[in-house]
Amino acid sequence: MSILVKEHQFHLQTDHTSYIFHVMENGELGQLYYGQRIHDQAAFPELTVREEHGAIPAWRLDHPDFQPETLKQEFASLGKGDYRDPAFQITGPDGSRISEFRYRDHQILPGKQRLDDLPSTFDDSDDDAQTLIITLVDAVTDLTLTLSYAVFPHQDVIVRSAKFTNRGQSTVMLDRALSLQLDLPDANYDLLQFSGSWARERHLLRQPLRSGIQSVGSLRGASSHQQNPFIALARPDTNEDHGAALGFNLVYSGNFLDQVEVDAFGTARILTGINPTEFGWQLAAGQSFQTPEAVMSYTSAGLNQLSQQMGVFYQHHLVNPRFAQQPRPVLINNWEGTYFDFDEDKLMAIAREAKQLGIEMFVLDDGWFGHRDDDTTSLGDWDVYAAKLPNGIAHLADRIHGLDLQFGLWFEPEMISIDSDLYRAHPDWTVVAPQREMTPGRNQFVLDMANPAVVDYLYGKISKLIQAAHLDYIKWDMNRNITESFSDTLPAERQVEFAHRYMLGVYQLYARLTTAYPHVLFESCASGGGRFDLGMMYYAPQAWTSDDTDAVERLRIQYGTSYGYPLAMMGAHVSAVPNDQTGRITPLDTRAAVAYFGDLGYELDVTQCTAAEKAAIKAQVAFYQAHRELFQQGTFYRLDNPFAGDGNVGSWQVVSGDGRHAVAARYQILNQPNPAYHRLYLRGLLANQRYRVSGDDHVYFGDELMNAGLFIPHLLATTQGVEASADFSARVFTIDAID
Ligand code: GLA
Repeated sequence: MSILVKEHQFHLQTDHTSYIFHVMENGELGQLYYGQRIHDQAAFPELTVREEHGAIPAWRLDHPDFQPETLKQEFASLGKGDYRDPAFQITGPDGSRISEFRYRDHQILPGKQRLDDLPSTFDDSDDDAQTLIITLVDAVTDLTLTLSYAVFPHQDVIVRSAKFTNRGQSTVMLDRALSLQLDLPDANYDLLQFSGSWARERHLLRQPLRSGIQSVGSLRGASSHQQNPFIALARPDTNEDHGAALGFNLVYSGNFLDQVEVDAFGTARILTGINPTEFGWQLAAGQSFQTPEAVMSYTSAGLNQLSQQMGVFYQHHLVNPRFAQQPRPVLINNWEGTYFDFDEDKLMAIAREAKQLGIEMFVLDDGWFGHRDDDTTSLGDWDVYAAKLPNGIAHLADRIHGLDLQFGLWFEPEMISIDSDLYRAHPDWTVVAPQREMTPGRNQFVLDMANPAVVDYLYGKISKLIQAAHLDYIKWDMNRNITESFSDTLPAERQVEFAHRYMLGVYQLYARLTTAYPHVLFESCASGGGRFDLGMMYYAPQAWTSDDTDAVERLRIQYGTSYGYPLAMMGAHVSAVPNDQTGRITPLDTRAAVAYFGDLGYELDVTQCTAAEKAAIKAQVAFYQAHRELFQQGTFYRLDNPFAGDGNVGSWQVVSGDGRHAVAARYQILNQPNPAYHRLYLRGLLANQRYRVSGDDHVYFGDELMNAGLFIPHLLATTQGVEASADFSARVFTIDAID
């Protein structure tokens, strides 16, 4: 049993954590504890202690110490004496914005049901999940609030969401409806956020909490390159291997808010959900609103453990089970190889060469449709560009399949070009506010995904191509953010719902396609990592991590991303040099050594490679295939942080579930003169097991590799005879148990 109920006290227990809350005297829910697992008790008097504070309101005259502002609340409203930012806000029919949701009843259900119209977690594998549903009622508006807590004991994860239902006679307005609130009793934490921009996504930023509100979020209509919905709180002394840490993520791809408020009493309130700016929802009599789900997890064993348990959780309870454990193909994508300049011969030459190198799938990127020679035209016209591919996509696909390669195709479903047949036929399908000019982004505009006719159109077009070309894979791109939010299909008072309805339309299209064509592997993309979130991962098990394929940049991007997402979610490609995003020239081996730690692909014109480069690529592909399960499903450890110190070194490692096999890699950005002695301290091995390390005759015990470390010799004794730069180097070690 992971949900223990006593009187009005709820204790959610996982293998290593406890989450406890109760019904307070006023009927609302109060938070008691979240952290390392503790024994269950009939009551926790220590956790409900109250002291009267001066100059703040109390609930009633006869309860002077019941001061909402000083209480840890479970899902707080504003306006009854708690002045911290609330979890929700409702405007009633009379304009009042006061809500008092009081406990009515609860239910415990086995397992975890999926949500209807939103991506969500599940328990298809009977992994002992249980769901607690608490129903609360506001007597004045006759609204019910159901709070759902799904407990996944073995990954130490609790998934939360809220649902508002209007059982009254009048329409009310939901102005704010977040997914998760957590009031912690102190604020002695660092906030870890993952911030950046296009081509440098998810850089780790770690800073102590301070008084007041600190937040990350997006108002772009996508989760964004700039901030990511994953955040963590860690004690100041928590590192990768030790210490308490809490992780929060949202199963949503649109505007979001992650916020921590530190109040005058030094407590910390975490809020996660749809960004209230640009959100509102009209709730007519009988209607409900379901928030997206938020995932939270706790560990006392450091940040590697936090990432690992959340990653295992996603692979078992969020990612499409068909693909979660399935080996992902090594692909070649023509984008950086050809950009828009290709024809069938050129593509076939690349595909043939790729096949020789051991690559398993060919992906045709942008430029195959309409009359698209650059990014100014044809989005929306998902019919073959006959001037480039006169025999059609199906013909090309047959030839690729004939080489025994899988075939994938790029789409950007949500977008439209002014120069397109679609725009000429349906200008009203484009997102634009009345009497306003449309703001272009990458020369393109956005389709109104809140309009069911648009979703139907796209479903029809994409279906046709999946069937005709027997597509194995689709790269679903999204290359600009939304402006002039407005839908012709919504009445004035519902326009505020647009941003969320847009996302529901995107999810609906994904749901229809993945249901009708379950074998197609989707990779999501938004100019690289602009929508790298759990909402997308529910439908598309992997995502293009960044448009930046430079190995040095990728080291940091993938390192940052790894805090919140497992390697199997990260598309990682080797491209040509000088790199197109940075102009940097890095060795081919280094580019591969970074891309191994993800879903490996190549994104260059392999027909232009020298014989030596081809031989190297062939060896890389074979190496990856031999260790694919480790790279895609192994336990990942961050070893040396490329965001720390002078940022010159980064290293990481993957270990098999049984601890007997590992691959570790150490990257050094600039070579150093007369360097210090460097060691790589491995993790996750079996202390008493003997191992062999590649390139080394010595036999090591696991405890030696983990505690004494592996010596890293410096690169060069002399520059004599050296042709290439010794900068941007990488070393990859395989570590295998021997009996
Ligand atoms: C985006 C993607 C790239 C590529 C281009 C094509 O930038 O991130 O990988 O598909 O679009 O236009």
